[in-house]
Amino acid sequence: MARFSPQFIDELTTRADISQVVSRYTRLTSRGERLWGLCPFHGEKTASFTVSPDKQVYYCFGCGKGGGVIQFIMDIERLEFKEAVEFLAEMYNMELPQEENQKLVSIRKRILDANRLAARFFHEQLIAQKGGEVVDYVRRRGLTAATIRKFGIGYAPADFSLINFLKGKGFLDHELVEGGLAKRGERGIYGAFRNRLMFPIINVKGDVIGFGGRVLGGDGKGPKYLNTGENPVFYKKSNLFAYQMAKKSKSNKIILAEGYMDVVSLHQAGFDYAVASLGTALTEEQAKMLAKSADEIIIAYDTDAAGTAATERAVKILSQVTDKTVRILRVPGGKDPDEFIRTNGAEAFERVLQKSEEQMDFRLASLKVGADMKNDEDRISYIRNAAKLLSELGSKIELEVYAGRVAEAAGVTRDAVIAEVQSIRKKRVRAEQKKQHADDISIERQLQPPRDLGVRYENPMAARVEEDLIALVADHPELAERAAKQITREDFTAPALATIFEQVVRQIRETQSFQPAILQTELDESSVRLLSRILAADRPHQDPPRELEDLCRVLRKGRSTDGADGEDPLMRILQMKSKPRDGG
Ligand code: UTP
Ligand code: MN
Repeated sequence: MARFSPQFIDELTTRADISQVVSRYTRLTSRGERLWGLCPFHGEKTASFTVSPDKQVYYCFGCGKGGGVIQFIMDIERLEFKEAVEFLAEMYNMELPQEENQKLVSIRKRILDANRLAARFFHEQLIAQKGGEVVDYVRRRGLTAATIRKFGIGYAPADFSLINFLKGKGFLDHELVEGGLAKRGERGIYGAFRNRLMFPIINVKGDVIGFGGRVLGGDGKGPKYLNTGENPVFYKKSNLFAYQMAKKSKSNKIILAEGYMDVVSLHQAGFDYAVASLGTALTEEQAKMLAKSADEIIIAYDTDAAGTAATERAVKILSQVTDKTVRILRVPGGKDPDEFIRTNGAEAFERVLQKSEEQMDFRLASLKVGADMKNDEDRISYIRNAAKLLSELGSKIELEVYAGRVAEAAGVTRDAVIAEVQSIRKKRVRAEQKKQHADDISIERQLQPPRDLGVRYENPMAARVEEDLIALVADHPELAERAAKQITREDFTAPALATIFEQVVRQIRETQSFQPAILQTELDESSVRLLSRILAADRPHQDPPRELEDLCRVLRKGRSTDGADGEDPLMRILQMKSKPRDGG
């Protein structure tokens, strides 16, 4: 614990704004002074999880979890205090104090240094080859000298030359192993990449963070591509191969391909805005990177079943993080972009690129795969699923166009398809209304004290106002007398709150101040806990005297039972405090 100074923790919690941090885990929307969202700790359909930005705390009315930003990270990432602090420091690019940090920084730096030297070493090895297997292979794949230079492509020989070279430069065994350049064997370390064509992976800062190594020909040992494993400098999920180049391209497009060779070939053919994810399915982070660097994203995965499934997934992830145009390019002849360019040339690829489809075409087409339009069941399910997709379209013209295509494919009229779309939309609206209703009820439920407190409010909305009065008086003891003059026990709907109010006022009268701890002796246990809950809730007061008048007016109104005179201040307060309408 003593490892972090209070100043450091203070600085960290100031920078790591709780709403920002929590937003990475659950979507928050603001209602009143707080943010609400679905609780990330327990499954729920309506929001009972809140964040108070001004107090920098979170609290879930459903499961009772709560605390500050460090506690949040401890809870959600299941970390110890120290680890949670480190996690947040990393997230906010803050240097950790003391030795621990030194270790992490230096291993990173050591790995990056080793990688840079290794990349150069591999590259020089390739260039130095005068013939033999690699040279044949490179020639067969049509790589030019310029491309090899541009990508820093290299060759890893199957010997100890790299290891000896790096050890000669002062690198230690464990540094090379941790960075993935070496493996530990029975008789010391040996090179992890052996007899492979090497593709360095470079981040936007220009650091070599890892490698992909391809076997030469088909008879090599191990997987076709061997990739650096995750290590302190290499996170597969947040990097893309050749992203640092594509980012600099003048084009407003970006092509997402499947493999290293596709990207290299595309660049060689002049498409300098191609990237590949690193042997994994597209991640959200990568999708954001794509969206950030281009206006149009073209997915050019393989056309086989695996590639089509991966395309579907990529489209979905992209549509979640961006509304930029996403197109799908399908390389004719079941080839990947690299093979296609090698056999048909760059211009032919340019034509395919022009024809790449908007994602809607693609998604509609993939619904048709395997469906037999002569079979009624298939037809109906095709129309249903297609209508579901079309119901997402914002533009009427687009709807007309695509509905026409679906109609044609399924052999029905366009109007029938549009009618189906409209019925889906109606159902969705109704579902949303229902959800809103459920939300309203759940807010009422949130106004109730937790079950184990043993207190139930008859009228939660009114009790909320009564709680507000108590909180206001507790925060502003100078107002106690004014409140006591206007409000009596009978104005309360909740007897427990009436008692608390009386005790609070009594104590202020006696001591001129309010100290909740002292009430411990006057109130029963459930009332003490109820009071703590009231005081813990976030109720900032802007204009206390005016708020007091408002609250008193609302509470007194209960006396004349029905308030038929125009504006209802109760509604106003409730809407203001707990559930303002959108934009209000
Ligand atoms: P493919 O195996 O589909 O490439 O791998 P390919 O087109 O047949 O072979 P080349 O590249 O033209 O010679 C596509 C990508 O999947 C990852 C790599 O990123 C590769 O570029 N991959 C593939 C691996 O990471 N490991 C493997 O063993 C195979
Ligand atoms: Mn290929």
